[in-house]
Amino acid sequence: MIKFTHVSKKFKDTTVLKDISFEIEKGKLVVLIGLSGCGKTTTLKMINRLIKATSGTITINNEDIAKKDKIKLRRNIGYVIQQTGLFPHMTIRENIEIIAHAEKLPLDKIKNRTTQLMELVGLDESFLDRYPNELSGGQQQRVGVARAFALDPEIILMDEPFSALDPITRTSLQEELVSLQEKVKKTIVFVTHDMSEAIKIADKICIMDKGEIVQYDTPENILKNPVNDFVTEFVGKNRIWESPEYIRAKDIMISHIVTCSSDFSLSRALEKMRTNKVNSLIVMDKKSNKIEGIIKPKQISKISDRTIKVGDIMIKDFEFVGPEDSVVDILKVVEDNNISEIPVIDQQRNLLGLVTRNTLITTLSEQYLEEEVE
Ligand SMILES: Nc1ncnc2c1ncn2[C@@H]1O[C@H](COP(=O)(O)OP(=O)(O)OP(=O)(O)O)[C@@H](O)[C@H]1O
Ligand SMILES: [Mg+2]
Repeated sequence: MIKFTHVSKKFKDTTVLKDISFEIEKGKLVVLIGLSGCGKTTTLKMINRLIKATSGTITINNEDIAKKDKIKLRRNIGYVIQQTGLFPHMTIRENIEIIAHAEKLPLDKIKNRTTQLMELVGLDESFLDRYPNELSGGQQQRVGVARAFALDPEIILMDEPFSALDPITRTSLQEELVSLQEKVKKTIVFVTHDMSEAIKIADKICIMDKGEIVQYDTPENILKNPVNDFVTEFVGKNRIWESPEYIRAKDIMISHIVTCSSDFSLSRALEKMRTNKVNSLIVMDKKSNKIEGIIKPKQISKISDRTIKVGDIMIKDFEFVGPEDSVVDILKVVEDNNISEIPVIDQQRNLLGLVTRNTLITTLSEQYLEEEVE
């Protein structure tokens, strides 16, 4: 939807954006992140042409924005800046309605829209007659967001909108932005230098350094596969532990699994557990290679006739997880069922791997292991 192709920006002799190409899909929330001065605001302001590219093209819905009428372009783009940019001498209502009045929209329509917007951002209508300095920082930010949505634009640009807020207000506004976005599905470009914020709200994160894009990817991929040391450093070593839902069964499962078939005798099964030092065997169908059940010493110990087949007493109704299930889901299954091994299977019941209590402990303890400082 918004596409940068080989875009560069020079201020006099200094190049601040170097040949940037990337695309933002319709309805997605993309976060631009990077150190101070890396070019985030410049990139953002090029989208509504507050800054003109030195070279390259930017298109919105395949139309070159340089060829569009500036006013028409901006009508379709809401803009929220740091410290809200509210006009101090205007009431909240006047602040929100200013663009709609400039557009000469019908008065009753404007009024209805304002009521709707206040509800959207969770502010009581009684605020409408107040002035910005009679509102808290968080409330002012909400007004800023409401104003950006006033003309129901397709695109919203947000430049560090929450950075001046206390952590609690900030977190709640982040959560509200996510749920708002689920409802309205705007294309949002959001600038921040806070990685936790980015991970919480972004569909995709664009990491910038010195006027270049270093990595443009989903939060999950950035956490798991940082492309270089800059990203690793920026993301922070243990950051993945702030988002354990991104650690999935497929990332931690072991693939060396001790199995048997249902025609094993109980004594043979016990022997296999003993020699392999495991607490259970996964029972596999030899032909289809699909998982049939699990057998544990506890079941065998109840039975004196050790010539009975595994297939007769194995647990067929066992707990399992899918490859995309997170460590949080797995812990829940392990805890709820008091089990120590859990097979990872796909939808066709093919066995992919096994997560054991040991794997979980090792994975979970990694976050506490600090690398040696030299
Ligand atoms: N009008 C201007 N004239 C000259 N240089 C500028 C101008 N605007 C920005 N710059 C320079 O361009 C670079 C990128 O600025 P930009 O505002 O895009 O950074 P940023 O990533 O938004 O930083 P911050 O996180 O501090 O807001 C900086 O080095 C800045 O000094
Ligand atoms: Mg900036």
